[in-house]
Amino acid sequence: MSQSLRARALGADHERVDGWAKVTGTAPYAYEQPVSQPSYLHPVQSTVARGRVTEIDARAATALDGVLTVLTPFNAPRLRRGYDAELEVLQSDEVWFRGQFVAAVVAETPEVARQAASLVRVHYKTSPHDVALSANRDDLYKPESVNPSYPTDSLTGDPDTAFEGAARAVEATYTTAMTHNNPMEPHTTVAVWHGDTDEPTLTLYDSTQGVHTMGEAVAAMFDLDPGRVRVVSPYVGGGFGSKGTPHAHVILAVLAAQRLKGRPVKFAVTRQQMFSFVGYRTPTIQRIRLSAGVDGTLTGISNDIVELTARYKEFAEQTGMPTRTMYAAQNRRTTHRLAALDVAVPSWMRAPGECPGMFAPEVAMDELAEACGVDPIELRIRNEPESDPDTGKPYSSRNFVACLRDGAQRFGWHARPPLARSRRDGDWWVGTGVAGSTYPVLRKPGASAASVSYHGDGRYEVSIGAADLGTGAWTVLTQIAADALDVSFSDIGMRIGDTDLPMATVAGGSSGTTNWGSAIVETAHRFREKYGDDPDVGDEYTAAASDDGHADRFAMHAYGAQFAEVRVNMDTGEIRVPRLLGVFAVGRVLNPRTARSQLVGGMTMGLSMALHETSVLDERLGFVVNHDLAEYHIPTCADVPSVEAHWITEDDPYVNPMGSKGIGEIGIVGTAAAIANAVYHATGVRVRDVPIKNDAVLLTPLGEE
Ligand code: MOS
Repeated sequence: MSQSLRARALGADHERVDGWAKVTGTAPYAYEQPVSQPSYLHPVQSTVARGRVTEIDARAATALDGVLTVLTPFNAPRLRRGYDAELEVLQSDEVWFRGQFVAAVVAETPEVARQAASLVRVHYKTSPHDVALSANRDDLYKPESVNPSYPTDSLTGDPDTAFEGAARAVEATYTTAMTHNNPMEPHTTVAVWHGDTDEPTLTLYDSTQGVHTMGEAVAAMFDLDPGRVRVVSPYVGGGFGSKGTPHAHVILAVLAAQRLKGRPVKFAVTRQQMFSFVGYRTPTIQRIRLSAGVDGTLTGISNDIVELTARYKEFAEQTGMPTRTMYAAQNRRTTHRLAALDVAVPSWMRAPGECPGMFAPEVAMDELAEACGVDPIELRIRNEPESDPDTGKPYSSRNFVACLRDGAQRFGWHARPPLARSRRDGDWWVGTGVAGSTYPVLRKPGASAASVSYHGDGRYEVSIGAADLGTGAWTVLTQIAADALDVSFSDIGMRIGDTDLPMATVAGGSSGTTNWGSAIVETAHRFREKYGDDPDVGDEYTAAASDDGHADRFAMHAYGAQFAEVRVNMDTGEIRVPRLLGVFAVGRVLNPRTARSQLVGGMTMGLSMALHETSVLDERLGFVVNHDLAEYHIPTCADVPSVEAHWITEDDPYVNPMGSKGIGEIGIVGTAAAIANAVYHATGVRVRDVPIKNDAVLLTPLGEE
């Protein structure tokens, strides 16, 4: 068919194919999947942060009408050990963190389950706990690698000597807060255990970012052949990474279903429970040193990072990655050190590594710009590397400077007074700030496969076990398939979100479209090679994406420039952000509507990181005390008056057959730094810790001197 059809499919402003089902309430999320005779699970969580469970008295709970079973560490079915400590649910009496599962009630209704759970008496032998992160601890350790498998430290040249002899330098410590993912749909699992035979099978309806990833983990924990575990997840109400790998609640639901021998078990995590066991972003402490010549040309960069992990399982956030790759400098160092504490294990949260890891360096660059008397945009342009400083590879495409220039023009950057604290509007100090964004193009060739079959009347079915968290995957994958088969969008029937479909990678690392799209394109082309343009009904082809080798030759990253305008009240320190504007270089944009939504969503979440989100970990009690959306504030419409996302035209033939780079995470990278830099420009107060609260700017009187 014609080129014009192809042009229409990829890059077109398609509305979401799942939009109508969602707004009319007919899209089944995990909890709504119909199962016969469901039962309901409510967990009992540890009220101490460290110790042992000595006794559980469940008599009052089991006496309640409608209670089906109470699971405890003393009676729960045994699981495989040594695969994933986070998933070893109810396998021992040991308490690793406050909020850990120590029992669970399953009942005929959710209300009875919840009431019964409150009647379970748990006795502990308590030990002193320690949840206090600081850079001065003497037990900080060096992990073997940082996520997923990067070197823990990096060193090129001698950044300390460069610092000693630098004409201009910045040295400061920056911190980012512990934050918890709160997608609209809290995590939910519906577990159906079929048959109490030697060859049981399990069906899970789960809100997950990866059905195959989930299936593999559950199969491993229960010693089942992976083919015996089916995971179904057509619609997911957000995840941001917290649904990227399975957490303990999934295993708990399956344990209960196994115990009940046939009764399906539904476990819908409550909003408050979201702050206990589904992961969070570690707080970070970042010691930055920048060394430069008088003109701002960097001679040295270092970032020494301290963050936390759990005692029972290591999670080492890769916070140093942006420092390794963002700017040219001959002398460079990054280190990561961890404190293993009595806390739940951290996990993935939108742009793990890059998001906290760009806050500190991008504020430091603002400080260096001031120290050198150079415009912050010009400073960044002067430090643009020719090839990737980390790997030495050429970039497949790098358009950071284009983003800075285009953004400056759109935002009206050049009207900015060079001095901080020089613009007032009534009772408000007004300022602007800029910061860079970066996110790698992550690829896993061969790990995703797709299937194309012909259904007659010009209609094709395309299947892949992908996940749509609300990102637009349903729609964009349909566009990719239509383009690759050279048919119109409406001729494609897409199927995703089921382990019965061809193997697919997780919707994580902004890699979904790259991995799944590559598999779809390759399969579609092979289908055409085999069956031509006039296939017979039932013709089918399944293939995995092959490795084009480009990632061995090129460094692949997306870039962006973010601009913020802030207003800070002279009397109260209230900080408002009337305007955020981002320009991104993300390869080819496959659907401007869903892409814009991802970028604006990321930037909004970045604003949230800058001003609002912080999980307050009470050191005496060992848990997050502001564990609900009343006290853990995420922005509402009034907090976010204007967020604009734009992109430049970028042609990158190496990243994947579509020419696209991931867009799910880059939007959050750098936003908080842009806002912190704008707060400085407005007030003259340099804040190096997020979230920035009113008192941080009030420490210096903001009124007229
Ligand atoms: Mo994202 S944190 O890679 O799901």
